Amino acid sequence: MATALIILAAGRGTRMQSDLPKVLHPIAGVPMLIHAMDTGASLAPARKIIVAGHGADMVRDVAKNWDANAEIVVQSEQLGTGHAVAQAKESLAGFEGDAIVLFGDTPFISDETLQRMSAARKNHDIVILGFVAADPGRYGRLVMQGDELSRIVEFNDADAATRDINLCNSGVVCADAEVLLDLIAALKNDNAAGEFYLTDIVEIGRARGLSATAVTCDESETLGINARTELAAAEEIWQSRKRAALLRDGVTMPSPQSVHLHYDTIIGRDTLVEPNVVFGPSVTVESGATIRAFSHLEGCHVSRGAVVGPYARLRPGAELAENVKIGNFVEVKNAQIAEGAKVNHLSYVGDAEIGSGSNVGAGVITCNYDGVFKHKTTIGERVFVGSNTMLVAPVTIGDDAMTATGSVITRDVPAGDLAVARARQENKPGFARRMFDKLRKLKASQAKET
Ligand code: UD1
Ligand code: CA
Repeated sequence: MATALIILAAGRGTRMQSDLPKVLHPIAGVPMLIHAMDTGASLAPARKIIVAGHGADMVRDVAKNWDANAEIVVQSEQLGTGHAVAQAKESLAGFEGDAIVLFGDTPFISDETLQRMSAARKNHDIVILGFVAADPGRYGRLVMQGDELSRIVEFNDADAATRDINLCNSGVVCADAEVLLDLIAALKNDNAAGEFYLTDIVEIGRARGLSATAVTCDESETLGINARTELAAAEEIWQSRKRAALLRDGVTMPSPQSVHLHYDTIIGRDTLVEPNVVFGPSVTVESGATIRAFSHLEGCHVSRGAVVGPYARLRPGAELAENVKIGNFVEVKNAQIAEGAKVNHLSYVGDAEIGSGSNVGAGVITCNYDGVFKHKTTIGERVFVGSNTMLVAPVTIGDDAMTATGSVITRDVPAGDLAVARARQENKPGFARRMFDKLRKLKASQAKET
């Protein structure tokens, strides 16, 4: 059966104290809205409708950029969760299948939970996701009669006995889309908050002879983000889950809690990730690689057997072939480094290609930027680039060539040649000793005068 996600994301998120709409604050480097949009991937939702309000244009950009098929509807006044769902009515006209309502600020609902809700729909018209709260606080309360959910009571409207219930509403709802929108149309706002409560569909539905039930999940899944402390807590939860998943899949991390991962990080088995490594967006590391301590990687690919760091920085477009070595204090950007090549110490390699088996000495810099344009450096195979060589791009070093230490290379070097581009050394016999004598005498005479 087809599924449509309706993601509520219109709220201001006042307690975030931010100019950015709440749902655009990142967890694992991507807006929490994207976590919500990716919820229930195994149900392969045919439609994703996002109800935006505050910062709707920004929300639209982010959502569309992630999934061009995402649809945005705008709720210009936030009159309640039921009113928010009503905004999806036009978009869903003629849609046949179930609708699942999610909150954009509740990013951890698992796939498995939505599967169970979907399955529960076989015997019930309305399925609500509940959880047993350690501290039920201000959550809506689920009033059960055996297997049947008779109604949901918002905290503000609840009497003392109802407030004693610890089975709470997560906000996630699953029902046939047409049925849901029919029920929504009947909502009233005669309650403590003066809002159109989505939660009232249960009572209205039951009065019409529909059945409702609750599926429960662990409270950790329903974590909602309202303030920055919760955002930080959510980040920590996400990180520990991702680390656990990588460890399970065969990645070695002696100090997992110090490794920071991104939403899309991919690491192959038998790869070693040492402590304090940070992964930015779009990093893939193949099996059997080593990422040593304090390295920072983003937008790069590391092949089998490669060793990176300690203290290396791989920036977007860095592609390391098998058994490449990138050592300490080396920065690589937009560069393809072929099999077995080494850049081991204190270098900058940007907009470059390095052939297999080449060795780039300490302190080498590809001077790729003239202040206006970027230029490319091409280094062939089995090249030896002497320490402290400045490669002024555009420039090409042929296969099996060599540059002398300290050279400033401005012209291409043909294959097999040695390029020396530095002032020739001259030794002046005894000069240093004579000069030191003179200077020391001068210092001694000045000391006497004072
Ligand atoms: C809601 C539930 C409550 C549940 C709790 C779980 C209702 C009436 N209450 O309460 O039972 O225990 O969530 O966290 O549904 N939103 C809009 N437009 C609106 C109002 C809200 O898009 O007009 C969005 C918000 O941005 C937010 C979500 O809906 O992402 C939930 O709204 P919020 O006001 O936080 O609901 P609660 O009062 O917490
Ligand atoms: Ca809330």
